[in-house]
Amino acid sequence: MVGASSGLGRCIAVGLARRGDEVAVMARRYDMLSRAAEEAGPGTLAVACDVTDEASCRRAVEEAAAGLGGIDALVYTAGIGPLKRLVDTDAETWRRVLDTNVVGAASVTKAALAHLDASGGVAAYLSSWSASITPPWPGLGAYAVSKAALDELVEAWRAEHPQVGFTRVVVGNCAGGQGDSVPQFSAEWDGDLVAELFPIWSARNYYTGSLVDVEDLVQVVHQVLHAGATATIPSVAVVPRQVG
Ligand SMILES: NC(=O)c1ccc[n+]([C@@H]2O[C@H](COP(=O)([O-])OP(=O)(O)OC[C@H]3O[C@@H](n4cnc5c(N)ncnc54)[C@H](OP(=O)(O)O)[C@@H]3O)[C@@H](O)[C@H]2O)c1
Repeated sequence: MVGASSGLGRCIAVGLARRGDEVAVMARRYDMLSRAAEEAGPGTLAVACDVTDEASCRRAVEEAAAGLGGIDALVYTAGIGPLKRLVDTDAETWRRVLDTNVVGAASVTKAALAHLDASGGVAAYLSSWSASITPPWPGLGAYAVSKAALDELVEAWRAEHPQVGFTRVVVGNCAGGQGDSVPQFSAEWDGDLVAELFPIWSARNYYTGSLVDVEDLVQVVHQVLHAGATATIPSVAVVPRQVG
């Protein structure tokens, strides 16, 4: 479970563990991973991993496989979304977003592939409705591009490894859980820019105040991971009902 130190990834990790799955929680912030592992319950492993570092991905996957006795599912939720208009987005920001949201997903998958092959396992990736269901949101252009690339990455992995169940999980606006499980995605957004962009998002109905209940997302991911050895769920979307 990659990207499990905060937000939706943390909610999914804790939710899967409580449903009986043995889980390794991975991300960079080890203190937060330890708290997540404690909340998830006995048997949950905390494993430090920076997805932008290929060697770190390899080490983390091997540590998780050794601790869990193999890997039959990968859930990739690591993601960043800096708020910047495209005209203000520099190459360094593009690289950071693509490294985390796309290249990191490829590195972790590559590291876990032998285990997923051996187990006939499943790999699920959290994407965003802003890459496929709505047009890209102004201010989140690099993010939407990266998630569209992630969507294609999932298809490309499936084309080369049909024995693994690759799933794209498209998610709409969701406020996560409590404490560390609140998404920190927007923590560094500039307040003035939010104030400029929010009315545009609202006017275009991308943000109506309607949110996905994170428990519904956890339930869907659980279903994806437990679809059965012969079935696969290539793609699923969990988005809010629009009431605005
Ligand atoms: N919240 C929403 O409404 C929403 C909607 C659609 C899609 N999503 C997707 O859901 C996922 C989780 O987002 P969130 O909203 O819950 O935000 P979040 O709280 O910021 O979670 C992001 C997670 O990614 C991890 N991460 C970031 N960079 C990393 C790196 N280099 N190496 C390893 N882990 C890294 C973070 O851990 P560390 O910083 O500890 O490494 C954190 O655990 C993202 O993929 C996001 O695109 C969210």
